[in-house]
Amino acid sequence: MQNVDEKTAQQEIESLSNLISDYNHKYYVLNISEVSDYEFDMLLEKLQKLEEQFPQFASDNSPTKRVGGDVTDKFPKVKHASRMLSLSNSYNKEEISEFCRRAEELAGRQLEYICELKYDGVAISVVYENGEFVRAVTRGDGETGEDVSANVKTIKSIPLKLRNNPPAHLEVRGEIFFPLDKFKALNKEREDIGEPLYANPRNTASGTLKLQDSAVVAKRSLDSYLYYVISDEADIAKHSDRLEYASKWGFKTPSKEKNMVGICSSINDIMDFISYWEDRRLDLPFEIDGIVIKVNDINIQEEIGYTAKSPRWAIAYKYKALAASTILESVSYQVGRTGAITPVANLKPVLLAGTTVKRASLHNQDQIEKLDLHIGDSVLVEKGGEIIPKITGVELDKRPMGAVKVEFITRCPDCDSVLERAEGEAQHFCNNDAFCPPQIKGKIDHFISRKAMNIDGIGTETIDVLVDKGLISNYADLYTLKKEDLLELDRMAEKSVNNLLDGVEASKQIPFERVLFAIGIRYVGETVAKKLAKHFKNMDAVRNADFETLITVDEIGDKIAESIMHYFQQEEHQSIVDRLREYGLQMEIVEQALQSNVLDGLTIVVSGVFHKVSRNELKALIEGNGGKVGSSVSSKTDYLVRGDNMGPSKLKKAEDLGIKMITEDEFLEMIA
Ligand code: IVH
Repeated sequence: MQNVDEKTAQQEIESLSNLISDYNHKYYVLNISEVSDYEFDMLLEKLQKLEEQFPQFASDNSPTKRVGGDVTDKFPKVKHASRMLSLSNSYNKEEISEFCRRAEELAGRQLEYICELKYDGVAISVVYENGEFVRAVTRGDGETGEDVSANVKTIKSIPLKLRNNPPAHLEVRGEIFFPLDKFKALNKEREDIGEPLYANPRNTASGTLKLQDSAVVAKRSLDSYLYYVISDEADIAKHSDRLEYASKWGFKTPSKEKNMVGICSSINDIMDFISYWEDRRLDLPFEIDGIVIKVNDINIQEEIGYTAKSPRWAIAYKYKALAASTILESVSYQVGRTGAITPVANLKPVLLAGTTVKRASLHNQDQIEKLDLHIGDSVLVEKGGEIIPKITGVELDKRPMGAVKVEFITRCPDCDSVLERAEGEAQHFCNNDAFCPPQIKGKIDHFISRKAMNIDGIGTETIDVLVDKGLISNYADLYTLKKEDLLELDRMAEKSVNNLLDGVEASKQIPFERVLFAIGIRYVGETVAKKLAKHFKNMDAVRNADFETLITVDEIGDKIAESIMHYFQQEEHQSIVDRLREYGLQMEIVEQALQSNVLDGLTIVVSGVFHKVSRNELKALIEGNGGKVGSSVSSKTDYLVRGDNMGPSKLKKAEDLGIKMITEDEFLEMIA
């Protein structure tokens, strides 16, 4: 590569960019996978290197911009070329009929309508000049929004260069949202590092667009659908055709095959579309909160016109949220393993979407104050994309006389320490981490968990007993447990005691990076632990690293660096880590030589229970032989190693996508 001349470099950059954009478009817009992750990454890396060498040819809209990296400290305000309007809402058939009647009266004829899903995310306007992405702006107050281009460029379903002769000046509007599986995975990660969970996909999508570091945005895998095309040049008379053109230009538009759009010529057709999605919306991979009905003919749209706030040619039908009304009986407070305090509403049991709801998450003090909660209040509970329902409102007219306002606690409910809330943070914390029982138990729970030390034979209940009986008070104590002490506990027969002790013993072989994750440093999740292990090689090097050294590591920012230093500054932690070393845990990285290259470029997902090797060993074998372990089945999966009791949804997805399924034996043969 050193000897590439300018001209060749320019050509190579261009053709690589086109090729990568093409793969991106196929994968993220059309759902077609043509290359493996590995091949894709290699192409991208090659382009990155060439662009570094020849920055004069690196375009602002190169696919390398998709990974983010630009840091913005302020988002410039930008005035929209035309106001970004909202829609008027309706909740029943009569209002829809009335909308159609008025539109037809204004137009003076019968009309054709198009129905679309009402995506529950954040509105965005994206401007293109000569087919090139120029800027992406949030809705703001409708007149003026904020330029969030660097962040939006990381969203793979938003094209950076358009294809197939787009108009020279083009503005599109659409919705950016958090796919539910990605949202759940993000919250799982938050749980792993002991952070409070995000409340819902919509707010999290909106918060993500305003993050300063676009590399973080890139990792969150936001997605988009386009719903509006503005161009004077495009002489396309129907909205439905505009969507089709937009799809040819490279945008993600609703799928006709999946009935995500409907052309309707009567109110009955519209109502059919609404009923079709009423239940099915719960199976979509993203949240919608209704259906949008639009007059399809653009000229007629203009004839019918606008009110001050919304078009007269469109209306939203909002599905009723899955909500129920019940009584707030009390508020209790949970203490997480990092000391984060989460308030929980205890409710009079009520049936909601087929399950009985007794509790709802309240997130933090601000949330309680915003709702102005009083004990005895009639509250509305809703179920969204999360497992725990939330309180969305209070029926003030039903508030009992003399009801007492919910005041956030000032002391820890378990150890009575004074709680603290750092400036700019929403969460209260109990900082008595070494002695506060739920924090002690939570830390041990995390230590033994599957992704950390994976200690079989102990569960949360056993930990409760062991801590309550005073047999352990931190995770290092697990390694001093004695058989005779354990046998004295209720319900601990010889077999369970042996299991427990075997599990503890086996954990001494768990690799260093997982030990680093297991000790539970705030903000150090699985990925960060791996990066630290790879960089520093052993525990002492991590422990002695100063701030400057820590932040040189990929993915380690100020917050994580400070947290790592804070952890090791505490004497309590130093002695615990010393003890772990004495007991024989892995305190340094074992660089695994690649066993072979036979799985080079293949992404393999494992699922179910195996007999000859454990699931973790299987994963290590995949990586050790050059393959990549996939976390979920997608069109990028090359093989699924299928164990016993595999989940039916994963199985169905693999079958639908035509993924090759192999048994444990077949896999072992592949690498033999
Ligand atoms: S059309 C002038 N179509 O709902 C056209 N909006 O209050 C206005 N939305 O801010 C928008 N899905 O962010 C339209 N298929 C869809 C939509 C949609 C979601 C959002 C949009 C808008 C809000 C309306």
